[in-house]
Amino acid sequence: MAPADAASSTPRSDLFARIPPAVSVYEVSPRDGLQNEPSTVPLRGKLRLIDALTAAGLSRVEITSFVSPKWIPQLADADELAEVVMEHHAVPGVTYTALCPNARGLERAKKAGMKEIAVFLSASETHNKKNVNKTVAATLAAFAETIGPAREAGIEVRGYVSTVWGCPYEGAVDPARAIATAKTLYEMGCYQVSLGDTIGSGTPRLTHEIITRALGELPVDAIAMHMHDTRGTALANIVVGLELGVRHFDASVGGMGGCPYAPGAAGNVATEDLVYLLHGMGIETGIDLERLVEAARAAESIVGRTLPGKVHQAGLRSLRA
Ligand code: HMG
Ligand code: MG
Repeated sequence: MAPADAASSTPRSDLFARIPPAVSVYEVSPRDGLQNEPSTVPLRGKLRLIDALTAAGLSRVEITSFVSPKWIPQLADADELAEVVMEHHAVPGVTYTALCPNARGLERAKKAGMKEIAVFLSASETHNKKNVNKTVAATLAAFAETIGPAREAGIEVRGYVSTVWGCPYEGAVDPARAIATAKTLYEMGCYQVSLGDTIGSGTPRLTHEIITRALGELPVDAIAMHMHDTRGTALANIVVGLELGVRHFDASVGGMGGCPYAPGAAGNVATEDLVYLLHGMGIETGIDLERLVEAARAAESIVGRTLPGKVHQAGLRSLRA
């Protein structure tokens, strides 16, 4: 019988032709992870997690959210945490960032000395309403009072579009509409827009459609992928993104996370699983995988439960020659 590769119409060399030599990993566990933990992690635990991540070489870390503490009580210490990180824990070369829904959030970010924030909205109306209590149009109006003033104050702004692969309330989402929303954020001044599979429902064919469409509308470095791993398809989707040339990926150590306003959403792809895959494909990240595995184990002790990431559970020792 012919080997599978010989039977395929795609030669190997073409399949991996556009894979980038290096990618950046944007760590979301202190925000996306801890916002979804049943109990609130004390401030010292959050600092331990953030320090473990930067010690492993992560250079982009989303540390908290300047949202309403009534909506996300787990991150109610955002002001104090951000101030302590920026004053006493900031590692040179590391970008610390935080979610910011409106001008009020921007004021809090400024006070804490943040140099970057992230605005967020959804491709689908119902998830947006449940998440930020506004229509998409009203959310964009709030961003007009946030993105410009942030940039005038020297603060970089990243954007998120959630529910790009599907909405927990509306089901299928039109990729054209989702990418048009991402383009709007980019045109409003976000240097990069992270496309979110909020409920982890995506599979490679849809990913190919979404990312191809995004690449037609946005520069490649303005695109990031934020894949929740609810159904175990995050890495498969990321490989499709890599094959199309995407160079920025969000991840959460240990696979912690979810969205409290997206029922059933599990954590993001685990950072250690992503980095294991990337290094195995010869793609540079600047991250020390052994120290990242240590960070994932520290994260487990900080949240007091076993986390779903696979590589920190399997360990790296058995791979040594
Ligand atoms: P609202 O209640 O509609 O806002 O909340 P409002 O403007 O009517 O204000 C009501 C109250 O909130 C007032 O206080 C405001 O001062 C306060 P009160 O008078 O009742 O005491 N408020 C604020 N407080 C602190 N910081 C602020 C702020 N703004 C207003 N910035 C709001 C609107 C957006 C604030 C609210 O809906 C909220 O906080 N939602 C939380 C959304 C959230 O954090 N969701 C999870 C993160 S998104 C996610 O996980 C998806 C992502 O990972 C990508 C993916 O996976 O796809 C990013
Ligand atoms: Mg998320």
